[in-house]
Amino acid sequence: MGASGSGKTSMRSMIFSNNPASLTSRLGATIDVEQNHVRFLGDLILNLWDCGGQDAFMDCYLSTQRSTIFSHVGVMIYVFDVESREMAKDLEYYHECLDGLSQFSKDANVFLLVHKMDLIRDGERSATLQRKVGELEKASGDVSVKVHGTSIYDETLYKAWSSIVNTLIPNARTLSKHLGIFAEACNATEVILFERTTFLVIATSSCDGPESMKNPTSAHALEGKRYERTSELIKAFKQSCSRLREEFHSLEMELAEFTAVLEELTKNTYVLVVVHDPVIETAAIKMNIRMARRKFE
Ligand code: GTP
Repeated sequence: MGASGSGKTSMRSMIFSNNPASLTSRLGATIDVEQNHVRFLGDLILNLWDCGGQDAFMDCYLSTQRSTIFSHVGVMIYVFDVESREMAKDLEYYHECLDGLSQFSKDANVFLLVHKMDLIRDGERSATLQRKVGELEKASGDVSVKVHGTSIYDETLYKAWSSIVNTLIPNARTLSKHLGIFAEACNATEVILFERTTFLVIATSSCDGPESMKNPTSAHALEGKRYERTSELIKAFKQSCSRLREEFHSLEMELAEFTAVLEELTKNTYVLVVVHDPVIETAAIKMNIRMARRKFE
């Protein structure tokens, strides 16, 4: 949900259809609702509704289509253009959507994306985001919301969407636990599980979800943005591969400091294993991934 031009279809096309950011300016306005079904982890299907934000459509969602739009909602993602000149109107529609949710989907999670953060000057970004977070939390009243600053031009988009998708995966904690056991078996610093098409982070061995991934317990200093940066870089690499009519299969890096292997784990996932122990051979990591496959299928 969100005003027309706030960037909803752009993010959807980048994450779920693997389009580059440069092509999003060619997207036309969404007419009514566009639905996507994304198969996630075997039987889990993500049913994504991109609701065109022009006033006429919004008015329809809130009146005649109200029960269709707001029933069985797992997560509502409301996108606000950080530079919107009609914030009062945006908030009015947002309130009405919260009303719709409270009527038909009381337990839905609410994510608010303050989008197009790249339009704000570098030095002012953090202060602007903080101000927006305050404003949106106040506007949400008693409803608990998670606010992310996002842009299609950097990794913030992947961070926000990984945390959104994470709330929808019923066994995310179990997956993290198993990844932890797998990491120990490989003597890995960290093991990260990505969804195959979107390359969103599903789980990591460090903690139990993207929200709590900031303080890994490992002795090695790991960069705070590593998950979303990896999603972004691999997606870009996959796009380069497809331009050359090649398919991406796996990636191996052997550096003085660490070894990393990214390989298919199951039909719908890729696993990234990062090892800082120089004694451990890449072939051993790959064998461990092969052996773990059945456990994760
Ligand atoms: P409706 O379909 O009418 O509801 O609009 P929408 O919310 O789907 O907007 P859309 O995705 O079509 O994006 C509108 C414009 O915003 C496009 O030209 C995008 O290139 C641009 N845009 C999307 N995301 C970003 C962003 O993060 N930064 C900047 N600078 N522009 C963006």
